[in-house]
Amino acid sequence: MSQATARAHANLAFVKYWGKSDHALNLPLNNSISMNLSAAYTTTTVNFAEPLRSDVVMIADDGTVSPSFAQRVSLHLDRLRALAGVTTYAQVTTENSFPAATGFASSASGFAALTVAAAGALDLSLSERELSILSRQGSGSASRSVPAGFVEWYAAETSSDSYAEQIAPPGHWDIIDIAVVVSSREKDVSSSDGHRLALNSPFWDARLAALPTTLEQTRTAILERDFTVFGHLLESEAMALHTIAMTSAHGARDGAWRSGIYYWTPDTLDLLIAVQNWRADGLTVYFTLDAGPTVHLICPARQEAVVTNAVRKLERQRPDRKWSLLVSHPAPGAHIIPLD
Ligand code: PMV
Repeated sequence: MSQATARAHANLAFVKYWGKSDHALNLPLNNSISMNLSAAYTTTTVNFAEPLRSDVVMIADDGTVSPSFAQRVSLHLDRLRALAGVTTYAQVTTENSFPAATGFASSASGFAALTVAAAGALDLSLSERELSILSRQGSGSASRSVPAGFVEWYAAETSSDSYAEQIAPPGHWDIIDIAVVVSSREKDVSSSDGHRLALNSPFWDARLAALPTTLEQTRTAILERDFTVFGHLLESEAMALHTIAMTSAHGARDGAWRSGIYYWTPDTLDLLIAVQNWRADGLTVYFTLDAGPTVHLICPARQEAVVTNAVRKLERQRPDRKWSLLVSHPAPGAHIIPLD
């Protein structure tokens, strides 16, 4: 085979990856736990074709990609070519189910889909662990998009020990993520810079020390489907990540000193406060956030309509608000899509 198509879902971290021990290999300083998201996925076709004189990377229906993204893809293909012992260039066509700039990390689904498609096209027979390790080298959190459902990615000192594994399959627990996209503005500080700057926070050591307990309790809450314990851990962990970010002093952007990174917009904060009040009104819902303004509302699937209505009501309180919602259930891992 010289061509294959694969699909991988984005994932949402319940316990976050923030801080690296090795920036070239994307080795994390702590384990993280996530869920694959059914509504957010990337579909990628890789075709290794002799006549090509360089790799060609295209977004379906659009065409253009930035030179830096094309270079990252090419570098990743080199890892797979080296394993297969070939030098042939490839045409890569990729498509996201979600629009760009919605606060979803397309790099996780993107690099997991690229890895699985390229391995398929090169007839490499790799285990899920090997695919996760390879995906991690393209983008850290991509390691978690390889296994299905609820997943844990291990921090380790060597590349071969830092991979993701399933905690529970997608059907284990009927919880959903309602992603509320409050802004499509590009973030000022990339997550790569955020990983580096995290160690500037005076609260960094405290977070690292508390994480083994958080990880253990989160894993157990997922396995026991204990939504209340899970929700408390989830929300506290999101606040811990953003406390670190907001106290990561830096001059990264333009040389001017800043006391920390704010990934939130005022709408983000309005939603966080509203969620806490909704619980007082009897709604079963908790929030988490990644390095961006999008608020992820986690609730049992049966609560979808009531939570969505509450979000829309809040949106209508201000005429300038234009939020979009994306609802996801736990999703499969990265997989080959058979040719018709
Ligand atoms: O994979 P990266 O480098 O984009 O980092 C992702 C970081 C967070 O989304 C904030 C947390 C996580 O674990 O996904």
